[in-house]
Amino acid sequence: MQLKLAKIILSAIFILFHSSRSEFCHEAHGLIYNDQILIGGNYKSIITRGILACSHKCLADPTCTSYNYERSTESQGACELINEEAESKEVLRERKGNIFNVISFSNNLRKPRSCLQAWNQGARTSGFYLIQGRTECLFYEMYCDFSSEPGWAWTLVMSQGFGNRGNSFTKSPFLKGVLKNQRTPNWEKYRIGKGRMWVIKESSSHWRVTCDFPNFGVDFRDYLRAAFQNLNPIKFEASGKCCKMDYIDIRGHNCTGCTAAWWQNDQRFLTHFSDQDECQFGKTPGSGANEANFGGYWKSNTNIAFRCSSSERSTTNYWFGGRV
Ligand SMILES: *[C@@H]1O[C@H](CO)[C@@H](O)[C@H](O)[C@H]1NC(C)=O
Repeated sequence: MQLKLAKIILSAIFILFHSSRSEFCHEAHGLIYNDQILIGGNYKSIITRGILACSHKCLADPTCTSYNYERSTESQGACELINEEAESKEVLRERKGNIFNVISFSNNLRKPRSCLQAWNQGARTSGFYLIQGRTECLFYEMYCDFSSEPGWAWTLVMSQGFGNRGNSFTKSPFLKGVLKNQRTPNWEKYRIGKGRMWVIKESSSHWRVTCDFPNFGVDFRDYLRAAFQNLNPIKFEASGKCCKMDYIDIRGHNCTGCTAAWWQNDQRFLTHFSDQDECQFGKTPGSGANEANFGGYWKSNTNIAFRCSSSERSTTNYWFGGRV
């Protein structure tokens, strides 16, 4: 293989063999090409639930050396197994939403536990990566953002569509471990478990919240970033406590390095109420009564001028990460 593409990154893939006496975790290294597809070489085409199931099919088949996986809006995707002969023809095409993955076995394992670690191992393109969970052989497909803020790498840990604000995964505080589609990252209904949040936090220094990332990316409007040492969402339990933000912006009202008030308890999700004149950040002009920002939405306490809650289709996105 001599694929001369800049978009080469490493990832680890695994298979688990069960035997009567013990379990062996067999791992392989792969090169993942996001938004690429190898044309005209598949010897077998199947439908699998997720990229992990597709890599299992490839690893289980001795003739398979790589595969294309088509990420679709559904959880099912086309999985095309490719052999060495086809692979050597090297006809890679750009195709959005696809992933081309070359399997290569190796003992020299490098297993990223967060997107920041994936960056440190050479990952540069934003997209889906296999990230190790709490145990050796547990891998999850996760979304990594390396491009919205130069110098930072972010792992998406939760995302909620505003239209899903009645759903318990959006209401349940970070203090509780609630999962939603934790194997299939998406913008509307996604939340990883608390144990996995801790794993990712271990190699992260900061967290951030973005509003409608798929549409706006990061332009620092309706955005916040804070260091875990100043506010750790997984542990935070307080009512209107002033916590230092790196930066916070609500509807254009912003400050850098100031404190803002935060609320979370074992019943209520982490929220900043922008009508409350607390801490250095204070009240945001034009706030409605109990206006909730960055989560903790209920029926009438939201503002359509805030991007996270401007329409039923707006999304609020939570990330853990750090400087590269
Ligand atoms: C931050 O505040 C300044 C002045 O108060 C404003 O001009 C700017 O547009 C705000 N930035 C964002 C991204 O909203």
